[in-house]
Amino acid sequence: MRRPLIAGNWKMNGRLADGRLLAEEIAQRVHRATETGVPPLPACDLLVCPPFTLLEAVHRALAGSGVLLGGQDCHPEACGAHTGDVSAAMLADLGCSYVIVGHSERRQNHGEDDALVRAKAAAAIAEDLVPIVCVGETEAERDEGRALAVVTGQVAGSLPELFEPPRLVLAYEPVWAIGTGKTATPEDAAEVHRAIRGALAERYGAEAAGAVRILYGGSVKPENAAALLGDADVDGALVGGASLKADDFWRIAEAVG
Ligand code: PGA
Repeated sequence: MRRPLIAGNWKMNGRLADGRLLAEEIAQRVHRATETGVPPLPACDLLVCPPFTLLEAVHRALAGSGVLLGGQDCHPEACGAHTGDVSAAMLADLGCSYVIVGHSERRQNHGEDDALVRAKAAAAIAEDLVPIVCVGETEAERDEGRALAVVTGQVAGSLPELFEPPRLVLAYEPVWAIGTGKTATPEDAAEVHRAIRGALAERYGAEAAGAVRILYGGSVKPENAAALLGDADVDGALVGGASLKADDFWRIAEAVG
């Protein structure tokens, strides 16, 4: 049985005080739910991925809450002359247990291709981090009827040869749905999730494929979360904009079946 994961991708948002406050608000909700049971603790893992600059403060604010911490990217190498980059080891050092790799904003804005994403995922695994590997088609690719081919192609190219299930997460994020307010229909999302799981089963075997969590991402909000998370192959959400408000993030987590 896969435990759902609700992950907040804060992107490039928040100064120190904002990040600390948001993390404290999330932690407070967890503590209240744990102590009083009202409202109950959502039946999922919670993860936040703040910008690098906030990791240490957020780590401290989340202490004892069980909310997990992740980075938004990592370099494929452990150290060296890579100005401006951050390695998986550095993230692990700050208390991260997850890292997002291959987000479409990195693929598009930084020219990252499948091979680089695969190397980053492998680097994360080598440091005992769980990579969240993002895939997703553009609007043009969907209009041309190529969504499934594009996404399964990215899955084939972006995943490392070896990982220990369930220590790898996939996120299906249709590019046209990110930050736009548009979402895939629950049926379209479910179709892609099934195709991803099928591709995983072919390559790694049914048992491994069954253990991997596949998140949906792209304009997930409290209002649409229950419908999008309703399918058995949708194991949670990668949430951008709505993860910047503790209340919205919490309500999305509560929408997990
Ligand atoms: P969004 O972003 O929820 O703001 O659409 C999702 C993501 O990019 O991970």
